[in-house]
Amino acid sequence: MTKIVEFLASNKDILNKYADEKIKSLTMPKELKDSIVYSLVNDGKKLRPLIFLAMLDYYKLDFKRYLDISLAIELIHTYSLLHDDLPAMDNDDYRWGKLTNHKVYGEDIAILAGDAMQALAYELIVDNHHISADIKVKLVKLLADYSGAKGMIAGQIFDVKQGNYDISADYLQKMHTLKTGKLIILPLLFAGNIAGKQTDLERLENFGSDLGIAYQIKDDILDNYGDFEKIGKKPSDEGMVTYLSFYGIEKCEDLLKTHTDRAINEAELLNNKLLIDFANMLLKREK
Ligand code: IPE
Ligand code: IPE
Ligand code: MG
Ligand code: MG
Repeated sequence: MTKIVEFLASNKDILNKYADEKIKSLTMPKELKDSIVYSLVNDGKKLRPLIFLAMLDYYKLDFKRYLDISLAIELIHTYSLLHDDLPAMDNDDYRWGKLTNHKVYGEDIAILAGDAMQALAYELIVDNHHISADIKVKLVKLLADYSGAKGMIAGQIFDVKQGNYDISADYLQKMHTLKTGKLIILPLLFAGNIAGKQTDLERLENFGSDLGIAYQIKDDILDNYGDFEKIGKKPSDEGMVTYLSFYGIEKCEDLLKTHTDRAINEAELLNNKLLIDFANMLLKREK
């Protein structure tokens, strides 16, 4: 087993337990708390917070001091999916192997839970005791940039409003870079900033950008060819243009490999074995 696979496997439970206890310790209406815990403490891969923690560990920091910030990253990811699954967007019934949040708690609560998760993410960063005010400002700004109107949300707009645009290879790549890539780059930049590795940031961004495109291509393939028992969701992109419908499976497999190779090349320039292993692991994932 590579170091990254071991790290992910041994720290996922720590993260789920931390998330569960943290949310339960906060003051909020019961309906909201139940809904947030339902979707946050799940069978998802928790890849974004885990790669953040693994990178801190790689940079020789005590990653357990930053569990709150890893939770902030996962909260943004989880909120994005609660909203993505709503009837007004992808209208999905299953996520993480169980009914989607709005199917259990109603659309009103699912929308509000997403809103609350977003605010909580910023609060967790601001409340951390192990980073300076300067770094906190950087992280808050990055979070707003990468998850917000010119980041992940812009990508979601390009996805749901496909009819307003000419669909081309460039369009699809831009959409993926924004809707998926931005939240994959974010944990890498968080770790680089906390560890003071300014000279790594540009390469981390390039690595995450290609990995993000590869990640969404793989997601589209798994949605259509994967096993519900493993991926825990059903395909909902019928009638929508995806990499798969645009290029077909063979070309998609090629592009998946090309973008993964480009990411690996960037990780090699950083001499970062952890990220090389991470990219290889994602290439082979089945969920
Ligand atoms: C799903 O992400 C949405 C995409 C951006 C492809 P993940 O596959 O990483 O979500 P989890 O692991 O189910 O939480
Ligand atoms: C979700 O993309 C990406 C987000 C930014 C939330 P998809 O709609 O393609 O992902 P799944 O298939 O629902 O996980
Ligand atoms: Mg979607
Ligand atoms: Mg979706």
